[in-house]
Amino acid sequence: MQVVSISSLKGGVGKTSVTTGLASAALAAGIPTLVVDLDPHADASTALGVSPDDQLDIGRMLKSPRRAHLADNVVPSGWVEHARLNGRGGANGRKQPGAATSVLDVAVGSAYTGIYDRPGLGRRDLRRLSAVLAGAGNYELVLVDCPPSLNGLTRMAWSASDKVALVAEPGLFSVAGTERTMRAIQLFRQEFAPKLSPAGIVANRVRSSSAEHTFRLAEMESMFGQLLLSPHIPEQANWQQIQGAAHSIHHWPGDSAKNAAGLFDALLQNLLNQGGVAPAGTVRDRSLR
Ligand SMILES: Nc1ncnc2c1ncn2[C@@H]1O[C@H](COP(=O)(O)OP(=O)(O)OP(=O)(O)O)[C@@H](O)[C@H]1O
Ligand SMILES: [Mg+2]
Repeated sequence: MQVVSISSLKGGVGKTSVTTGLASAALAAGIPTLVVDLDPHADASTALGVSPDDQLDIGRMLKSPRRAHLADNVVPSGWVEHARLNGRGGANGRKQPGAATSVLDVAVGSAYTGIYDRPGLGRRDLRRLSAVLAGAGNYELVLVDCPPSLNGLTRMAWSASDKVALVAEPGLFSVAGTERTMRAIQLFRQEFAPKLSPAGIVANRVRSSSAEHTFRLAEMESMFGQLLLSPHIPEQANWQQIQGAAHSIHHWPGDSAKNAAGLFDALLQNLLNQGGVAPAGTVRDRSLR
């Protein structure tokens, strides 16, 4: 099992969108996956189309990790049913090799997690998500959607993770924020999480026609080298419509969704490559320098 946190210092750069894009790719690839929605706003749960019954949300599981039986409290994403109904070759004509048996579950977000989103969370609190995920052995991949801060919840996510993927838009403030976050990961790793490594940086909402974006991408490449993951995710005109419909990108009709789905397939493969869940891919060593 690999646990990957999707984080950023800045809000609104696309953490939830990248998390759900990767979850969509994992579902299409038949990788049993759990999405942990650690943001008190619970946007990932909405986008993943969950309909909880009487399950505990992640906030309540974190409150009593030893008593929270994860397997009884996850909720399947509504996308699994879409994938099943579409079967092989979903709405956009892509092959769905694992669609009939795939697992995409959600540990549902709630405002209750907010009680842990404070600076200076103690070691015991930092371990809460790791304790909950002790019951996640059935999944090959766990994606943790983090809130937009480096407070307690994000640090709790890092403590439980093998890797952190940072999301950044190619703009001045975002690039500076990513550098600060990289430093924060390094410090956190030394003190609390020696196994943690940065999986890399996902450049999101890239407009190839923008001279500023081209400049900032080049700057990011020179600053972060191989940590800047490929492919970049472009600005996608219908992204909000797809999220609003609680659909996966792999099951949205049209060429632009098909293209975006292919980018997330490649991004997932590159992210997982270090840990060996996915087939060998294109990525090289990305350890911290
Ligand atoms: N590649 C993209 N193309 C077009 N719109 C996008 C893209 N990525 C994200 N968005 C849009 O930008 C907005 C913010 O994205 P998202 O919610 O994923 O960011 P976030 O980092 O999770 O935000 P927060 O910090 O509030 O959790 C959303 O309306 C989303 O639909
Ligand atoms: Mg979000």
